[in-house]
Amino acid sequence: METIRKAVLPVAGWGTRFLPATKAMPKEMFPIIDKPVIQFIVEELLEAGIENVIFVTGRHKRPIEHHFDINTDLERHLEEAGKEEILKNIREISHMANPIYVRQKEQLGLGHAVLTAEPVVGYEPFLVSLGDIILENGSGALKDMIDIYNRFGKSVIALFEVAPEEVSKYGIAKVKEIEDGVYIIEDLVEKPLPEEAPSNLAIVGRYIFTPKIFDKLKETKPGKGGEIQLTDAMRLLLEEEAIYAYKFSGKVYDTGNPLDYLKTVFEFALKREDIAEELTQFIQEALSKRTQSIDIP
Ligand code: G1P
Repeated sequence: METIRKAVLPVAGWGTRFLPATKAMPKEMFPIIDKPVIQFIVEELLEAGIENVIFVTGRHKRPIEHHFDINTDLERHLEEAGKEEILKNIREISHMANPIYVRQKEQLGLGHAVLTAEPVVGYEPFLVSLGDIILENGSGALKDMIDIYNRFGKSVIALFEVAPEEVSKYGIAKVKEIEDGVYIIEDLVEKPLPEEAPSNLAIVGRYIFTPKIFDKLKETKPGKGGEIQLTDAMRLLLEEEAIYAYKFSGKVYDTGNPLDYLKTVFEFALKREDIAEELTQFIQEALSKRTQSIDIP
């Protein structure tokens, strides 16, 4: 069986939920304190042993390429300033992974983005990681998914439990448990209404696909929102091949909308020794001021 060597990262989306901030700045470059979201995703892949990272990017996303490139001027400046530690960190990022960039010329949907990577992926199994979700111990989750792929030789997706009112934000799966923690997908639906959802198990943005998904993506008609949906192509794939699922039970950090992004930044800040104490004090003071102002009739 072929091993998983490549990952596709679709990063060409408009980031409309964050406009106007995303007019000139990719949402994937938004910082979680001082590290861009996309770097978390790439580090997760590297820790899971995947070095070939194919970014499906667009003309408005150049900062992502710059981030993983060498910046000689900055390196020289840091060297002259004697900032050894940050210099080491900056150099590591430049040599992180083997980045490959493919342009998605029109944003026709997530499924279309994945299909754009076909000439680079070739006819082999591959991973897809979405750029707006950070998983707690994400590399562990990827390794578990790769193990399931190695056992069954078929596509594997990661699912997580969401509240019933959240189902319309995600692709939702109907599953059957075949052994402890391993499921087989029976059906999928992209962003259903709560009353139409077959379960509360949502696709969490990590997928392993057999190359047959490309054939199915070519047949997929525009679906939800008029876009070529990856979930719809997976439904077509189900007619021919089994798709397995892995239930992710760790913490999911969504960064894809302003409120969840802020929550993520806050949670990460509370884990940082240099920030946590002062931030907590600041929040407590801000909250007490808010309560006082609410009390005033
Ligand atoms: C995409 C997928 C959806 C999945 C979600 C995970 O939606 O289409 O199936 O559950 O990512 O974040 P998006 O968030 O890009 O609208």
